[in-house]
Amino acid sequence: MKPISLTRFLIQEQQAGHINADLRLLIEVVARACKTIATAVGKGALGGVLGDAGTGNVQGEAQKKLDVLSNEILLEANEWGGHLAGLASEEMDHAHPIPNSYPKGNYLLLFDPLDGSSNIDVNISVGTIFSVLHCPDGVSEPHDEHFLQAGTAQVCAGYTTYGPSTMLVLTLGRGTHAFTLDREQGSFMLTRQDLCIPEDTQEFAINLSNQRHWEAPMQHYVADLLAGKTGPRGKDFNLRWVASMVADVHRILTRGGIFIYPIDAKCRDKGGRLRLMYEANPMAFIVEQAGGAASTGRQRLLDVTPNGLHQRIPVFLGSKNEVAAAERYHLQANANPG
Ligand code: F6P
Repeated sequence: MKPISLTRFLIQEQQAGHINADLRLLIEVVARACKTIATAVGKGALGGVLGDAGTGNVQGEAQKKLDVLSNEILLEANEWGGHLAGLASEEMDHAHPIPNSYPKGNYLLLFDPLDGSSNIDVNISVGTIFSVLHCPDGVSEPHDEHFLQAGTAQVCAGYTTYGPSTMLVLTLGRGTHAFTLDREQGSFMLTRQDLCIPEDTQEFAINLSNQRHWEAPMQHYVADLLAGKTGPRGKDFNLRWVASMVADVHRILTRGGIFIYPIDAKCRDKGGRLRLMYEANPMAFIVEQAGGAASTGRQRLLDVTPNGLHQRIPVFLGSKNEVAAAERYHLQANANPG
């Protein structure tokens, strides 16, 4: 049977009363912007888009030309449709209220326009991650603080991966679904409904080069994974690390695994490496809706009350039982300090 398009999927969701017209439009607009980004990414060197932009973002990180371009594409696409009250981007210092010259809606959109952008110049998968929240009642010009809602408040989250095929993975809080871009038709087509992450795994994803900087419970946990069949875990584990969160999470949604970016001595002052609002929360929502789990190592990620738009956080997500195993090492260390 021919797969249905994203447009049809969303219309069906609306007809069933699960989403309203504004949220449908919002997702359609984000998907359209992602198609434009996919085209730019796909052109590579021919599009003149590779390399550094010569600027830095709010995090003090060097921006790639495609970081800047993807941010502009998402901003331009979403500003005027009337479905949003404001936007926030990993690439911008502060929230961006919708200008008064445009109609306004009740949603807030947050995005990481091009995640894993260090991979662009070496032609490895990158992606866009997004999250949708309600604008608090009575707020017409949302500022940073209005975006600081726990991950459980998300009404929708998704990502697009620009890999061998371009895929959009989406949750509206009723399962996680994957759409593949049909490049000839220009449409995202539903190719996997209700993704289901296996509860157990023998695969983990972590930047092992940071090992010497980790806290004691992380050292113990990964040492036990590496000890394999004859170690305390009693099974061999395989290591995979793309260094592009979207690509690593996509693999986990497809065949299971655990993705970890723990706190370490290098990022301790910042609270972690990955961003809560643009990376951790949307991915946690997507993973939970696919039957997986997401944690800081010490608590459910989606329950964290954010304290800043660019807050960073430790991330453990993927196969449920493996996330629980990683948490046990941290909670036991908390219980028996020293
Ligand atoms: O936050 C950006 C990001 O590129 C993620 O997509 C990825 O998981 C991580 O950083 C890679 O980190 P590292 O450079 O330590 O491998």
